Amino acid sequence: MKYRIAFVAMLALVMQPASAQNKPATAKKGAKPPAAAPAEQKDAATLEFEKFRTQMEQEGNPAELFEVKGEEFWKTKRGPKNVSLAESCDLGLGIGVVKGAYVQMPRYFADAGKVMDAERRIVWCMVEKQGFKFDDLAKKPFASGEYTPEQTSLVTYVAGQSKDMKIAIPLKDPHVKDVYEIGKEIVAYRAGPYDFSCNTCHGADGKRIRMQNLPNITTAKGSLTAVLGWPGYRMTGGVMLTPQWRMGDCFRQQRFPQPKYASDTITALLTYMTANANGQMYKGLGIKR
Ligand code: HEC
Repeated sequence: MKYRIAFVAMLALVMQPASAQNKPATAKKGAKPPAAAPAEQKDAATLEFEKFRTQMEQEGNPAELFEVKGEEFWKTKRGPKNVSLAESCDLGLGIGVVKGAYVQMPRYFADAGKVMDAERRIVWCMVEKQGFKFDDLAKKPFASGEYTPEQTSLVTYVAGQSKDMKIAIPLKDPHVKDVYEIGKEIVAYRAGPYDFSCNTCHGADGKRIRMQNLPNITTAKGSLTAVLGWPGYRMTGGVMLTPQWRMGDCFRQQRFPQPKYASDTITALLTYMTANANGQMYKGLGIKR
């Protein structure tokens, strides 16, 4: 319950007046929600990209380079306290256990008193166990150009260690369930200059913007697409990006102010989407165009 109150308070601060809620679907200023197109109808560029991706998956996803780096970060004694994450960080299955941890996050962490997604948990461990400063980690939290934050490589490593395992977000835990419900509210919340919600673009099958297929994150199938995409290597720009980045960037798509790095809002969205994909196989790191 306390999450819900915090979320509503956050919205009141950050977003449009409450009257913007539950408005009719008409978008303002001539902005159009994406048109529905048959899901099977793929343009030439999509087919070309898919061919290329299959080839890359066979020959080695560039994401693997970040996985290797992440493993090194995980195992090396680092930070002001000079400890390794391997000897101090619990991703939910015990200190240092990485295998299978990713497909069970977000989950509730009693020591932090919060539900956390993988990146948030890793950052929490870097701060609490290794002594890094949160503000430093939050300064430039996502990759751009040649720069890749350490936590991005760590998330990539941790995610890779759940390849071919079933997604199993512990929704039976009331903490997790509560955050899931908040995530569900957020994806349906319409606001901003165009009165969009996540569901405006991602709430039905077969929607597209330009050449991108937009997964329907309210379904098990669409949520799996979202989970499989990130962390992923994005060929545009040649950067490794995390689910946290993806969420933040979609707030931008929505013309919303972006939530703070590693915030409750992002965890709630990831809890909702990932749990919707429960029971399906996580196939490993993504490649995106
Ligand atoms: C204005 C339309 C729009 C809105 C609103 C929007 N998105 Fe997106 N979303 C996109 C587009 C376009 C992409 C693909 C971008 C790309 O691939 O470069 C995308 C991609 C995604 C992906 C990755 C999909 C994949 O195949 O990997 C996820 C997950 C996602 N959005 C979730 C959300 C969530 C959660 C919200 C609400 C906070 C949201 N989006 C709001 C347009 C939107």
